[in-house]
Amino acid sequence: MALWSGRFTEGVSEFTQQFGASLPVDKALYAQDIAGSKAHARMLAAQGVISQDDCDAIQAGLDAIKARIEAGEFAFDINDEDIHMSIESVLTAEIGDAGARLHTGRSRNDQVATDTRLYAKERCSQLMRANLDLRAALIHQAKEHFDTILPGYTHLQHAQPVLFSHHLLAYVWMLTRDFERLAAARRAADASPLGCAALAGTTYPLDRQMTAAELGFSRVIPNSLDAVSDRDFLLDLMYACSVSCMHLSRLAEEIILWSTSEFGFVTLSDSFSTGSSIMPQKKNPDFAELVRGKTGRVVGDLVALLVTMKGLPLAYNKDLQEDKEGAIDAAKTLEDCLVCMAGMIGTMQVNADAMMTQAKKGYLAATDVADYLAKKGMPFRRAHEVVGHLVLLCETRGCDLDDLALEDFKAASDLFEADITGALDLKSIAAARTTEGGTGHEAVRAQLEQAEAQMASDEAAL
Ligand code: ARG
Repeated sequence: MALWSGRFTEGVSEFTQQFGASLPVDKALYAQDIAGSKAHARMLAAQGVISQDDCDAIQAGLDAIKARIEAGEFAFDINDEDIHMSIESVLTAEIGDAGARLHTGRSRNDQVATDTRLYAKERCSQLMRANLDLRAALIHQAKEHFDTILPGYTHLQHAQPVLFSHHLLAYVWMLTRDFERLAAARRAADASPLGCAALAGTTYPLDRQMTAAELGFSRVIPNSLDAVSDRDFLLDLMYACSVSCMHLSRLAEEIILWSTSEFGFVTLSDSFSTGSSIMPQKKNPDFAELVRGKTGRVVGDLVALLVTMKGLPLAYNKDLQEDKEGAIDAAKTLEDCLVCMAGMIGTMQVNADAMMTQAKKGYLAATDVADYLAKKGMPFRRAHEVVGHLVLLCETRGCDLDDLALEDFKAASDLFEADITGALDLKSIAAARTTEGGTGHEAVRAQLEQAEAQMASDEAAL
């Protein structure tokens, strides 16, 4: 019989019991549930609502249950509706009346909101840790291949040469913002609903500040109706997970492209590749593809809860039980993806020669040739057109800009001198982009230092 069965004469059917149960999902919250119950019992004793003996029995009983769960020795009863019922009914069976007093002045509504917020806070911290590890792997590769030239793209067409380190650092900055979003989600979860009871507060003299402080919450939620029915802290977490997964998916997509025969820019280590069951030669970037693929699920988790929430009147509704599965999944999936990408990036081989070979194709120097003319006084629009004609000439000859003779340049404009060849060198083209945030060596070095300083302060914020 359920713990709420007093006013019922018949039990639920086997089907509805299972349909209504959340135990398979929320048993992941056992540690938070036990921590919340222990804090609640201590507060009840401090306020004189239950005796110190009852409180001591509850503390010891819950510690024993926790140890059994962690040792895999706790037999979850599938007839229990959720983790709260499961733990409380075993506690009461073991310690008697003291266990039956635990739920005084509490409802599963404030209990589950408390557990879920504690869980969300912990997951945010773990994700922030994994985020820093991936940033470290990217920064390590950026340092190893600081000077390597990569064709920079727009529209996936060759555009201008960039430093490979600059390209990797772009992802470091995305991840830096992801870290901020996770920190914001952690702050959002960091408020205690405990003591709000079912919806309206209780008649017992509860000390909400005490339980909040004991559980490590920095504040209490000011409105009991809001406290038990709001799940926007989970939406914040899943939004942070979705954006971060989307960033990882973009990086994964590049790695997939870069490891094709066409690009050959990187070679993934064997431990981050798989073979084919039929084609003996294959080495597939399965794990990068999975990171890209899992992103869809994480975004789906966010959208599912947004839609679940949109029509709910105050206060608690059972619909809210649907909140945990997606949130747990989104956080676990992002963590796996972060760990996977850190390993993949850290172990991949970077093929600088292949990048340079490709960078030499596609007239990457064209903008700089136009700038050469503009710096000699020709209006930039006019210079753009002159170089456009030179590119066309190369197209008809099947050559690149640096294959043209000085006479070819002079025929296009008499502003060209012998030093035009200097404007065609890819390394100097990249180096010349000295603006803050640009791909010039000094600018990238400054950016790298900034990214490392940010990592150090984020480490400290963990
Ligand atoms: N398993 C429930 C959930 O996850 C716990 C709260 C149940 N509250 C209730 N009034 N039925 O939301």
